[in-house]
Amino acid sequence: MSQAEQSKEQIYQADRRRVWHALAPHNERNPWVVESAQGVYVTDLEGRTYLDAMAGLWCVNIGYGHERIAKAAYEQMRKLPFYPLSAAHVPATELAETLTRWLGGDYRFFFSNSGSEANETALKVARQYHAQMGHSERYKVISRYRAYHGNTMGALSATGQHQRKYLYEPLAVGFLHIQPPDLYRLAEGRAPEEYGKACADELERVIQWEGPDTISAFIMEPIITGGGMLVPPDNYLPEVAKVCKRHGVLLIVDEVISGFGRTGKRFGFQHSSVAPDIVTMAKGITSGYAPLSATAVAGHIYEAFKDVTDPNAHLRQVNTFGGHPVSCAVALENLAIMEELDLAARSAVLGDMMLRRLKELYAYGIVGDVRGKGLLAGIELVANRDTKEPLPLERVKAVVARTKSLGVIVGRNGDTVAGLNNVVTVSPPLTIAEEEIDQIVEALTAAIAEEDSNNRSND
Ligand SMILES: Cc1ncc(COP(=O)(O)O)c(C=O)c1O
Repeated sequence: MSQAEQSKEQIYQADRRRVWHALAPHNERNPWVVESAQGVYVTDLEGRTYLDAMAGLWCVNIGYGHERIAKAAYEQMRKLPFYPLSAAHVPATELAETLTRWLGGDYRFFFSNSGSEANETALKVARQYHAQMGHSERYKVISRYRAYHGNTMGALSATGQHQRKYLYEPLAVGFLHIQPPDLYRLAEGRAPEEYGKACADELERVIQWEGPDTISAFIMEPIITGGGMLVPPDNYLPEVAKVCKRHGVLLIVDEVISGFGRTGKRFGFQHSSVAPDIVTMAKGITSGYAPLSATAVAGHIYEAFKDVTDPNAHLRQVNTFGGHPVSCAVALENLAIMEELDLAARSAVLGDMMLRRLKELYAYGIVGDVRGKGLLAGIELVANRDTKEPLPLERVKAVVARTKSLGVIVGRNGDTVAGLNNVVTVSPPLTIAEEEIDQIVEALTAAIAEEDSNNRSND
């Protein structure tokens, strides 16, 4: 064995022995070790290169290898490598100003490190807000089945995916779930607007049945992403916002995936005229180059935290690394690049093109539905198009694996709800070129064609 092979073998062995991987059952095979990346491509330890059509984990929005980001991080590390946000530092201040511009409203920012923590903070802010307004009985949170909001106890309680919660329960009390809009499976030929209104009516009904005076917040992603790429009818968010307003329920919009250009606008909620009470964000805020998240709280909510005569009126929460100066400097450079390249608009234009091309996959019977917005798409695979019976999990995994063997990384919604882990996901860097989109479509076409022919021969 050569020295290079020996050192690779050491890495594989050490990883197999010591690293606990996300969402992966135990196995004794060598892990897939990614060693470097450039543009939309990642290269593994064996020197194989793949087009990363998942932007890491829905986050490398500007693509890999931007020297400017490395430089910004280096310079910030030299100037001020750390200081907590119990005091203040310039990168966080500047980032809050930039994010205010991106959101287009009056917000105040609490910085953390991950999407889970951003949502956790939002849930605490909502509860404390009501308490300070004299309504401490408002503690319940409503969210949707199939949605993911994070891995910490509160965010996981809001998550509507049984398989992510099983064996970790009981979780936090007071979390309720309603059905999400699912235009493919549940709308049953109804007009999208009428269906969107009916789904918002369900929120109204649950609020009424639970007692409006007990509800703190409703939390939703503009599009359910990791849960199966459920794009709601256009009127759903505005209708939901009306229901929340009517009952004094805070509207928290989770933009952890949908934010930063992913859906063709800077934030997913900006496809409507809704102004959320709280917006949570992570991932694309730094394009994954450093950990950072933010909870943007509308000025009128923050007002309730201003009472200087009450020793408990402030948010009594600290997060050592939240708003880390290096992460904030990285975020600022990332947002500057996104603005210079106009990546949100690019995501809209190239996203339309990508969706059009992906719809060519309807040529294959196992493709039940192709949906998406911006550079975010899902392909729902079925064993039978008439009954919409989901393609079995092992077959969905085979499609993803075959696409990878053809040099393209796509994702799938795994460990969500029973029977519906059948959606292949595509979420490439927003810098992707048209020819690279062709490459994604070609690999998926070959992988799906093969699975389709297996499926037909099983009939
Ligand atoms: C919509 C949504 N919210 C929250 C989270 C949690 O983010 P993190 O993994 O950074 O904690 C995720 C993660 O994928 C997500 O997709």
